[in-house]
Amino acid sequence: MRKQIVAGNWKMNKDYFSSEIFVSKLINLYKKTDTEVIIAPPFTSLRLSLNMLKGSSIDVAAQNMHFLESGPFTGEISASMLKSIGVDTVILGHSERRTYFNETDSLLAKKVDTALAQGIRIIFCFGEELIDRKSGNQNLVVKNQLKNALFHLPKIAWDKIILAYEPVWAIGTGETATPEQAQEMHAHVREILSNNYSSDLADRVSVLYGGSVKSDNAKEIFSKPDVDGGLIGGAALDAEHFISIINAI
Ligand code: 13P
Repeated sequence: MRKQIVAGNWKMNKDYFSSEIFVSKLINLYKKTDTEVIIAPPFTSLRLSLNMLKGSSIDVAAQNMHFLESGPFTGEISASMLKSIGVDTVILGHSERRTYFNETDSLLAKKVDTALAQGIRIIFCFGEELIDRKSGNQNLVVKNQLKNALFHLPKIAWDKIILAYEPVWAIGTGETATPEQAQEMHAHVREILSNNYSSDLADRVSVLYGGSVKSDNAKEIFSKPDVDGGLIGGAALDAEHFISIINAI
């Protein structure tokens, strides 16, 4: 049985103090279910969030990391630094990192290897741009993104990979993929996994949908058989909203 997951990617939002307010609200509102809940605050609020959530089943993820252990890389954070404060999950491959920070598939493959070598679980994001969808190339684009960054991994490594399909045209735009478009892509992803690994592996990897998920559209998207939850941006910044999305599963 695949894990259902709802993760909140805060991006570059919330300072230390507003993070504290959010997490205490979340703790008050949250009722444990079988759905796994993850928040991904900015680096400056990771330790705070971990401390506040100690003993809770809500997990805390980082939004990025460098692929090297240490060195002259001003402004970067390594996998072992994340581990040293207790972070065990990282988001990699987000389209904002690909677009604004020039992260390529081959760079992401290195980050993936480093995270796994440190035992860090990965939420790996991928998704086509509007131009790809308009030209009907979305399946090929997604296949290449997955192949180039992940398909060198052995089967066992997939125990630590969560996939997140985030069509770039749906991120922060208010335009959501229809539940059918999401289902179609998620089924495609499972087919690629099945062809490259096995149907058994394809069946057990959680594939989340991300892109303008809100409390009023979450239920319909999450009800699709190959959609195992969501990676939420804007709507994850408000505790009540985030909770209602979690409850939509
Ligand atoms: P929005 O939910 O704001 O569209 O962002 C989605 C996203 O990028 C999550 O990583």
